[in-house]
Amino acid sequence: MSLSVSRRLAAVTALAVAGLFAATAPAALASPTSVAAAPTPPDIPLANVKAHLTQLQSIATANGGNRAHGRAGYKASIDYVKAKLDAAGFTTTLQTFTSSGATGYNLIADWPGGDPNSVLMSGAHLDSVTSGAGINDNGSGSAAVLETALAVSRAGLTPTKHLRFGWWGAEELGLVGSKYYVNNLPTAERAKFAGYLNFDMIGSPNPGYFVYDDDPTIEQTFKNYYAGLGVPTEIETEGDGRSDHASFKNVGIPVGGLFTGASNTKTAAQATKWGGTSGQAFDRCYHSSCDTTANINDTALDRNSDAIAYAIWNLGFATPVPPGPSFENTADVTIPDSPAAAVNSPITVSGVTGNAPATTKVDVNIVHTYIGDLVVDLVAPDGTLYNLHNRTGGSADNIVKSVTVNASSEVANGVWKLQVKDVAAQDVGYINSWKITF
Ligand code: TRP
Ligand code: ZN
Ligand code: CA
Repeated sequence: MSLSVSRRLAAVTALAVAGLFAATAPAALASPTSVAAAPTPPDIPLANVKAHLTQLQSIATANGGNRAHGRAGYKASIDYVKAKLDAAGFTTTLQTFTSSGATGYNLIADWPGGDPNSVLMSGAHLDSVTSGAGINDNGSGSAAVLETALAVSRAGLTPTKHLRFGWWGAEELGLVGSKYYVNNLPTAERAKFAGYLNFDMIGSPNPGYFVYDDDPTIEQTFKNYYAGLGVPTEIETEGDGRSDHASFKNVGIPVGGLFTGASNTKTAAQATKWGGTSGQAFDRCYHSSCDTTANINDTALDRNSDAIAYAIWNLGFATPVPPGPSFENTADVTIPDSPAAAVNSPITVSGVTGNAPATTKVDVNIVHTYIGDLVVDLVAPDGTLYNLHNRTGGSADNIVKSVTVNASSEVANGVWKLQVKDVAAQDVGYINSWKITF
């Protein structure tokens, strides 16, 4: 507080001398945006994820034992996932491509809402190899991403970012589907991606807990989830670039993901910290006919499904910024009765680096006998107006409230003003004080 008081006194003195109380003609009008805190992530029901795996197994069994690109079992898998998403309110798009002479499919599901210029995408490849049903590789990632998307719908989630989900075709032929998707994104669309989260093999029967070592924020989010469980993680090293995140990473999109291991062998040290069997592959059925519903470690699948929800719930919302410095002006400013020009109470902000945060807080204290007379705006240093009050409240006395303003496009340092205009005759009052917190 001592910081704010000293700055405040300096501000008032300087402005009184400089005569900056004259009304300005602001160029643009912006609305205050409340920044919602991220709600608590849900526990993704393991039973629901496993029910999807049972369906994918049935699909494989009914279609020659696999769900491979170009085979009937792949299209049936796509149809299953799409129907669930359509029923849950997603906007789904089936993207077709050709690979090895066969039609391939990517399924894209958009959750309506959020900032279209900030897209958080989560995905998994849905195809198997031809030798088996592909339940760990990659029914596991596909089912967990599907159930997390359904949890988004159940929660009626309103994240600040736009959420998108993807199921890729022909990954096993060399990331074909995800490459096709990314290559067909116009440059401007690629730039809108806040991140891509990949889930390929997350229920290995002899599991390790691997986090991709890519975008630091995404990586840290997964590590935070695992730290909360008290389960150690390692960096994923079993072939970086061997799954669909590589397609996104190649065009500069921040990526991350989880993995429980494929054909590499679990070491003694890993078995000590994670349990399971040392000297044995993380997935002995990798790319073989025994990759069935029996080839899943429930604990790993459960933890990683919850980790997906944790990541989407945390990364999907604007980062809460801890309160920075405050600046206050407690000098009274009379608000003359209408008709009259707007009055201002200025605050000079200095010593704040960069732009104001999306969570810039404005505390308003106006003494008045009829607040329905008043229009109150925050005026940024460049003249941009952020409306804080527009005649609501009718005959109520006084405006004492705190408003969060998304002022992230404004340089913090400079002269900010609380501008008040009385637009109806009779009642009068004064600005008692106001404060801005970055
Ligand atoms: N589907 C991948 C593959 O067949 C499995 C895999 C191997 C993987 N190494 C990986 C997935 C590393 C993610 C990260 O190659
Ligand atoms: Zn895979
Ligand atoms: Ca009045």
